[in-house]
Amino acid sequence: MTRLRVHSMSISLDGYAAGPRQSLDDPLGVGGERLHEWMFGEATTDPVDRELLDRGRDELGATIMGRHMFGPIRGPWGHDEWRGWWGDDPPFHHPVFVLTHHARAPIEMGGGTTFHFVTDGIHAAWERAAGAAGGLDVWLGGGASTVRQYVRADLVDELHLAIVPILLGDGERLFDDPDGTPTGFEVDLHLTTSAVTHVRLQRRR
Ligand SMILES: NC(=O)c1ccc[n+]([C@@H]2O[C@H](COP(=O)([O-])OP(=O)(O)OC[C@H]3O[C@@H](n4cnc5c(N)ncnc54)[C@H](OP(=O)(O)O)[C@@H]3O)[C@@H](O)[C@H]2O)c1
Repeated sequence: MTRLRVHSMSISLDGYAAGPRQSLDDPLGVGGERLHEWMFGEATTDPVDRELLDRGRDELGATIMGRHMFGPIRGPWGHDEWRGWWGDDPPFHHPVFVLTHHARAPIEMGGGTTFHFVTDGIHAAWERAAGAAGGLDVWLGGGASTVRQYVRADLVDELHLAIVPILLGDGERLFDDPDGTPTGFEVDLHLTTSAVTHVRLQRRR
């Protein structure tokens, strides 16, 4: 059965998945790039971090992301120049469904990635992604607002967080729900490397 999985989502000690004021120069918001040093920086030497990253990327047939993860452009697209942060051959190699309120034609990229823009909500994006995944799982890439909505709708099966020992002080919080932090998950993995603390939660069904 196709599962919806968040993997290696990095959050700060104070709960931010990105810093404030995302822009072309600061894709993860101001100061937010420190959240990803453990996976992209020279510090990525720990074999446990490496293995968890690799395992999270296994068996994925489609991705869902929010429009801010796709890029820093806000409002109507206006022009079709922005094609994501990742260049001509993005690292997904499968269909990617971008949640947005602003319609846009699909963009076919190199290496098997096509960006589809979904304007009819999270359930529609999940149905399309699950249908496109060919029996594999769907990666819920982020950002904070998108993951929060899927958790609240009880659609996330696995939530793997990497807690980075930094304080950001401002930005996009992962758990920011006035109705409370979600329940119904149980921790199936919890370990700390020199760079981060991994906590993986599984939805109880
Ligand atoms: N820490 C990590 O591991 C990690 C992972 C991924 C991303 N990030 C970072 O997180 C930040 C983005 O997070 P975010 O919370 O600001 O935004 P986000 O979830 O990426 O995108 C939010 C935007 O997506 C669209 N959207 C979301 N839900 C929708 C819905 N139900 N219907 C229609 N449109 C919807 C809306 O855009 P419009 O209304 O403008 O169309 C909304 O403003 C970025 O800095 C990114 O780099 C961090």
